[in-house]
Amino acid sequence: MPIWERISMPLLELDGVSVSYGKIQAVSDISLTVEEKEIVVILGNNGAGKTTTLRAISGLNPPHHGRILFDGREIHHLPPDKIVSLGITHVPEGRRVFRDMTVLENLDLGGFSRRREKSYLKSRLEMILDLFPRLAERKNQLAGTLSGGEQQMLAMGRAMMVEPRLLMLDEPSLGLAPLFVQLIFNILKETAASGTTVLLVEQNARLALKMADKGYVLETGSVKLSGPAGELAGHDEVVKAYLGG
Ligand SMILES: Nc1ncnc2c1ncn2[C@@H]1O[C@H](COP(=O)(O)OP(=O)(O)OP(=O)(O)O)[C@@H](O)[C@H]1O
Ligand SMILES: [Mg+2]
Repeated sequence: MPIWERISMPLLELDGVSVSYGKIQAVSDISLTVEEKEIVVILGNNGAGKTTTLRAISGLNPPHHGRILFDGREIHHLPPDKIVSLGITHVPEGRRVFRDMTVLENLDLGGFSRRREKSYLKSRLEMILDLFPRLAERKNQLAGTLSGGEQQMLAMGRAMMVEPRLLMLDEPSLGLAPLFVQLIFNILKETAASGTTVLLVEQNARLALKMADKGYVLETGSVKLSGPAGELAGHDEVVKAYLGG
C-alpha cells in the first residue's frame, strides 16, 4: 500500500454494518469512520442502535453483514479478547465494575492482556490514580460501595490500563451530577490530547458536541445525520431533538 493511502486511512471504519438480535435488526447498514486522535460522538434516541454499534465493534455482537476495519485490518470476525488485544477497549453502558473486588483489583483486571509487563502496568496504574484522585483515595474500597460517579471513573480507569488506541464509552455521563460529568469530559479531552482516539455514545448532546470533532446521529438503526460536531450542533434537527431548541 502506498504511503499516502496509509496516512489517510481511518483508525476505525464501519462499512455497511448490520446487526440483528434474532429477527430484530437493531443496526442497518451503518457506515462510519473514526480518524486517529479524533473524538467522535454517536447520538440518537433510546433504541436507535448506539450500544449495539459499540458492541459490534468490540466483538460482543458481531455484524451479520458489512465490514469493520481497525487500522485497515478486518476485525468483525475476531473474538472480543482478540479485539481488546489490538487496542480497542469498551466502557459499557451502566459502568459495570466487579462489585466484590477492590478498586485496585478492578484496575488490575484492566491490565490483564499485558499481565506479564509488570513495570508497564505499574506506571499505568500510577498514571490512572493521578488522573482519578478519588480512586487513589479509595483504592482498597470494594467497588460495589463506590458512588455511581466513582464507579464510572473506575470503569474508565480500568479501560485505560493498557493505553487503548481506541477508547469506546457508552453513555459515561448517565446519572452523574453536572460536576462529575464535567470532570469526566475533561479527562476524556486530556486522554484524546495524549493520543488516544475516543468513540463516545452520549445523551448529553450539548457537552458531547462541544468536545467532539465529529458526530453521527442514529435513528432506528441507521445514520440519519453526520458531520463536524460544530455543524451538527447548529443543525435544525439536532437542535430540536437533542439540544432542547
Ligand atoms: N439482546 C437483545 N435482544 C433483542 N433485542 C435487543 C437486544 N439488545 C438490544 N435490542 C434491541 O435493539 C435495538 C437497539 O438497541 P440499543 O441498545 O443498541 O439502543 P441504544 O441506542 O443504545 O438505546 P439507549 O439509548 O436506550 O441505550 C432496540 O430496539 C433494542 O430493543
Ligand atoms: Mg444504549
